[in-house]
Amino acid sequence: MKLLTNLLSTIVTSAFTECGYDAVLGQVAVSDRLDLCQFQCNGAFSGAKLYKKTPLAIANEVVSRIQMNDMLEKAEVVPPGFINITIKDEFLFGYVEQVFRDEHKGIPQTEHPETIVLDYGNPNVAKPLHVGHLRSAIIGEALKRIIISTGRTAIGDVHLGDWGLPMGLVLAELEERHGDHLPPLTVDLLNEIYPFASKKSKADGVFLEKARKVTAKLQKGDVRYTKIWREMVDISIKDIRETFGRLNVSFDHWYGESDSSKYVPELIKILTDKNLLVQSEGAEVVNVAMECDKAVIPPTIIVKSNGSEGYATTDIATILQRQRDFKPDKILYVVDFRQNLHFTQVFRTARKAELIPDSTELAHLCFGTVNGRDGKPFKTRDGGVMQLSELLDTVISCSYDKLRFHEEIGEADKKETAKKIGIAAIKFGDLINHYSKDCIFDMEKFMAAEGKTGVYLLYMVARIHSILKKVEDIDVTSLHLNGIYSNTERELMIKLALSGYVFINAYNENAPNMICESAYQIAVAFSRFYHENHILSEKDEQKKSSWLALCLITKDILRMHLDTLAIDTVEFM
Ligand code: ARG
Repeated sequence: MKLLTNLLSTIVTSAFTECGYDAVLGQVAVSDRLDLCQFQCNGAFSGAKLYKKTPLAIANEVVSRIQMNDMLEKAEVVPPGFINITIKDEFLFGYVEQVFRDEHKGIPQTEHPETIVLDYGNPNVAKPLHVGHLRSAIIGEALKRIIISTGRTAIGDVHLGDWGLPMGLVLAELEERHGDHLPPLTVDLLNEIYPFASKKSKADGVFLEKARKVTAKLQKGDVRYTKIWREMVDISIKDIRETFGRLNVSFDHWYGESDSSKYVPELIKILTDKNLLVQSEGAEVVNVAMECDKAVIPPTIIVKSNGSEGYATTDIATILQRQRDFKPDKILYVVDFRQNLHFTQVFRTARKAELIPDSTELAHLCFGTVNGRDGKPFKTRDGGVMQLSELLDTVISCSYDKLRFHEEIGEADKKETAKKIGIAAIKFGDLINHYSKDCIFDMEKFMAAEGKTGVYLLYMVARIHSILKKVEDIDVTSLHLNGIYSNTERELMIKLALSGYVFINAYNENAPNMICESAYQIAVAFSRFYHENHILSEKDEQKKSSWLALCLITKDILRMHLDTLAIDTVEFM
């Protein structure tokens, strides 16, 4: 389907070109004051500078050439040179109906179905998931679904941290504690041992050295370490999969840093052949500083002095791996801002080594930290790092408390619903702001029944569901929009008609927050429509059936928004 704004732009553009003006001036956008006008073209202002005429003169000239058709109600000039456009009601409700029936819900499918690898989630073996992983997981999952909605291929890879020094620290500590007689490994043991070993390595240089050696041995394929490591990885993956599953976050690939290891020899050969690898203090590095740099960009370390591969090595080798496996058009990394320098080094090295074509985009979508209401990084009550599963439990029990008094609802349903509401509250609370901003984790605000919250959105879907349930004897799917009977209805339809436009913009800008905003706008418009009209008691059958169809369409499009954010809806609240 074509976007409404594109259909309008085509008409206005031809009027501009007929008058001898540049076609780009004819772009039409939706107005942000729907009460004043629906669509607007501001091309006369740019045209004024180019053609040395007043905006008003250009706008008048263009409007006189706009061909009225069954789409346009009116096109008028508003001083000092705006072109305001109103579309015909028949066209609008027909378009909304078409969006609803369209297999892609009005989202135009790209003619260039690129392949995009998304690197997100990014947990580490033997370390518990904490709130920082929350953001990467939920932003990444939403971006993946946005990409898919436009007809492109998204490949989600968790890029598990399973190969660096943390592995050596855990293995070395296990060895010190238990020698050859290891106890059965469990998540709890791993969760306890990593922070312990990490702290120990900071105070005990001998232990740190040992952990480094163990890391290098593991990377060289030491049989005994590999066997324990494999067990650790399997236990961690099972646990992580479960927690991410609670958030509706899933991956096409569970590759780890270790999976890139087989590409390291090839990477080193490429770097050597291109004369990029240089010796520095016993390590082998690639210089990536550029003249234009404002800050110092240190060389990328490829092989450490003890022969082990570092974090950058595995990331660069992973680019080689992804190029071989997927030939991606883009690789997007959803990783927090503290890794900016790391990605600068990795991307520059990959470009210098020509591991990917120039046309392949590499981008670090860096997000801010999760802060508490005091603006400081979010912590548990006793000041520790909040684990993700603990956080989810707290939120779900808080939403369960609110449902407790629904006596008519069974316990199992209540629990299921509480889970969905809690998760929706967190996800929407995070995604409503642009990812690059810090996220203020304010559960009270996230759980508010009014305003831009997941709770409000779910409530609106549940409300529409309950309206439709009251007319169960009517097959609502066979009803059609047949007119526009109120202003609020018209505004709602415009919001619904624009959802394709929102999705395309959200894709172009990597901005799930645009989907949140649109869902909220639709919900507010529906609420106004619902308050202004008495849908169920309406006597005029034609009106009533159009309104019921509008309820169904609104629910469907709202759900499409929420699905894209990986937020489940509920049927009661
Ligand atoms: N596992 C890493 C960490 O917790 C993040 C990995 C990010 N992705 C990447 N390709 N480097 O810090």
